[in-house]
Amino acid sequence: MTDAVKLVYIETYGCQMNVADTDLIVGLLGRDGFTVTESPEEADVILVNTCAVRDNAEQRVYGRVGELKRHKRPGDVLGVVGCMAQRLGSALLDRIPSVDLVAGPDGYRALPELIRRAAEGTRTAEVEFKPWEHYEDVPPTPANRVSAFVTVQRGCNYRCTFCIVPMTRGPERSRKLADVVREVERHVNAGTTEVTLLGQTVNSYHDGTNDFADLLRAVGAVDGLRRLRFTSPHPNDFNDRVIDAMATVPEVCEHVHLPVQSGSSRVLKRMLRRYTREGYLDCVERLRAAIPNIALTTDIIVGFPGETEDDFLETESLVEAVQFDNAFTFKYSVRDGTPAVKIKDHIPDDVAGERLERLIATVRGVARGRNAGLVGSSHEVLVEKRARRGDLLQTRTRTNKVVLIDGDPQLVGSYLQVRLTGTTGSTFTGVPTSSARMLVVAE
Ligand code: 5AD
Repeated sequence: MTDAVKLVYIETYGCQMNVADTDLIVGLLGRDGFTVTESPEEADVILVNTCAVRDNAEQRVYGRVGELKRHKRPGDVLGVVGCMAQRLGSALLDRIPSVDLVAGPDGYRALPELIRRAAEGTRTAEVEFKPWEHYEDVPPTPANRVSAFVTVQRGCNYRCTFCIVPMTRGPERSRKLADVVREVERHVNAGTTEVTLLGQTVNSYHDGTNDFADLLRAVGAVDGLRRLRFTSPHPNDFNDRVIDAMATVPEVCEHVHLPVQSGSSRVLKRMLRRYTREGYLDCVERLRAAIPNIALTTDIIVGFPGETEDDFLETESLVEAVQFDNAFTFKYSVRDGTPAVKIKDHIPDDVAGERLERLIATVRGVARGRNAGLVGSSHEVLVEKRARRGDLLQTRTRTNKVVLIDGDPQLVGSYLQVRLTGTTGSTFTGVPTSSARMLVVAE
């Protein structure tokens, strides 16, 4: 590898925090003379930023690494980073001979060095937890200028029995409020008007002085910021202070992604989620009372060890009771090293698969009903990008609904008022209303 132009290709899998981490890696490698390329063929360094949350996420990475290694020329470096890298460490080097480096989420600062070593033929795994690491000095280089992710907390102190994340991202720690605000200001100065604060249990944010309510108020007060989102919260950390901040800071959008995982208190207990079905419903009620029209989405796991048909029916009835706007549904995947490995009563795959299908149908039915009821209503949308389909633009409401509209690509980044004209059940079509056009011109 020459010292002149060094090109890095990065593929990102998994959650929003991985997307934000990829921006961070780009910033880190940028300082070391790297430029991003969209083409793995011409890259000197190929990185795959991975997820470990379910086995199929890891299987996909094995497949993808197998394909990407074909683009390796002599001296090129192929690396696996992220949660799967952290989980498997040097075992990944043993398992895939074409992989030259492995680095977990706390190890990115070492990447330039690991790449140099790899180019010289030394393969390394960097998987030490660094509980102080926030990459505070590294300027993230966001790929998306319209909407930015800002990591406010790394790691996780919950111990949900199904979840590998505490093992891959280490202990919870929060950035200082002033550092977060400074980063948001930087994004806003670069033209970004929407920010999503990220953390594994983001509303448990605490920097020693300030809690999540303080953070929402401080970030919401950044001049020029128009939309503030966060993901993902834990129900137990929605205290009244936080809900009050959400209700009173106008920038905070009317949408919460609130993972429930199961509607059965018995299963929730085995999952060590630390709330009951009633506790979750109470949280929903408090959110709805404070923020009318708030949209709620969730994550649900089916087939957790010991889940009975009755437990599953409770999950279905919870979806109906809450009237989620959408839900991500998963079949339980055993993760080595998690406490749930020891729980007996494994659910056969065909039973879990059949429950998943039923749940997906229930979720779709509920979402379709809610969304059909919104057709005809007017919403402010942020124009995000050209849609994949035709000449349409993809826009988003404050409640996180995707609305496709006709329009000039120059509108990307601006706000419009649209009337919803139809729905597929999950996304919408809409037309800008005439007053909105004037509003845009006026801006
Ligand atoms: N199996 C299936 N789904 C899981 N999730 C986390 N761990 C597992 C697992 N072992 C899901 C949860 C979480 C989402 C990000 O992934 O629903 O909220």
